[in-house]
Amino acid sequence: MIRLHGLTKKYGGLAVVDNVSLAFPTGGITSLIGANGAGKSTLLHMASRLVTPDTGRVELDGRDIRSLDSMRVARHLAILRQANTITARLRVRELVEFGRYPYSRGRLTGEDREAVALAMHQMNLEPLAGRFLEQLSGGERQRAFVAMVLAQETDYLLLDEPLNNLDLKHSVDMMNALRKVAGELDRTVLIVVHDINIASAYSDRIVAMKDGRVVADGAPDDVVNPEQLAEIYGIDAEVHDIDGMRLAMYYR
Ligand SMILES: Nc1ncnc2c1ncn2[C@@H]1O[C@H](COP(=O)(O)OP(=O)(O)OP(=O)(O)O)[C@@H](O)[C@H]1O
Ligand SMILES: [Mg+2]
Repeated sequence: MIRLHGLTKKYGGLAVVDNVSLAFPTGGITSLIGANGAGKSTLLHMASRLVTPDTGRVELDGRDIRSLDSMRVARHLAILRQANTITARLRVRELVEFGRYPYSRGRLTGEDREAVALAMHQMNLEPLAGRFLEQLSGGERQRAFVAMVLAQETDYLLLDEPLNNLDLKHSVDMMNALRKVAGELDRTVLIVVHDINIASAYSDRIVAMKDGRVVADGAPDDVVNPEQLAEIYGIDAEVHDIDGMRLAMYYR
């Protein structure tokens, strides 16, 4: 369980995350949605200790995350950042192997290699294993970074816009892979996503932020409705139930 207690982060006197308390019990996919600048990435960064909150604290399995050493945190919690820039000349396999660093510190065991192979398989990267990152398309590179996070085999995965650059098929493949990770392996997956219909179709829970605060939190059926979408995004949407999914139409 990850618990966020009253997290606040201010920049230039303005709270970009404002007293947010949330709990993420084990298992399932939660989508974090909200407009650009709502505070989603900042919240994820505080949850994973990349950013220090001004007030509040983060508990990981009952312990204050600040009291845990970073290798231990990295064996329990992985984060994919929204923008991943790597300057080193790395091949795809080498990048994914970095996911094992918290276990192997660079000397890979058989178990590490299995985890790397599985993660590469989950992201359908075998044909690209020997390619340099700079030789990949945007979507291929995104899958490589997600594979690195999957190879880390953590209980908690925080993924900031994992669908960035992915085409329709690869978006669906990614969500199905995450569903497997959350369902079969009982991992806790928290993703930031802008596609409200993907969030609706694949999430167990949707948390919506606006101006640094949580303005909706519930099952897709509770969050995806015209009133809430108007509040979250300022859009005028129609919402339809199709094949058991609640889908929004907002191209007007
Ligand atoms: N290091 C920083 N210094 C100053 N302002 C920052 C910093 N990081 C974020 N902000 C501001 O905080 C607000 C929230 O940013 P954040 O990146 O959390 O938004 P977001 O919800 O992830 O948006 P997006 O959907 O565009 O990724 C924004 O207004 C941003 O400009
Ligand atoms: Mg962001």
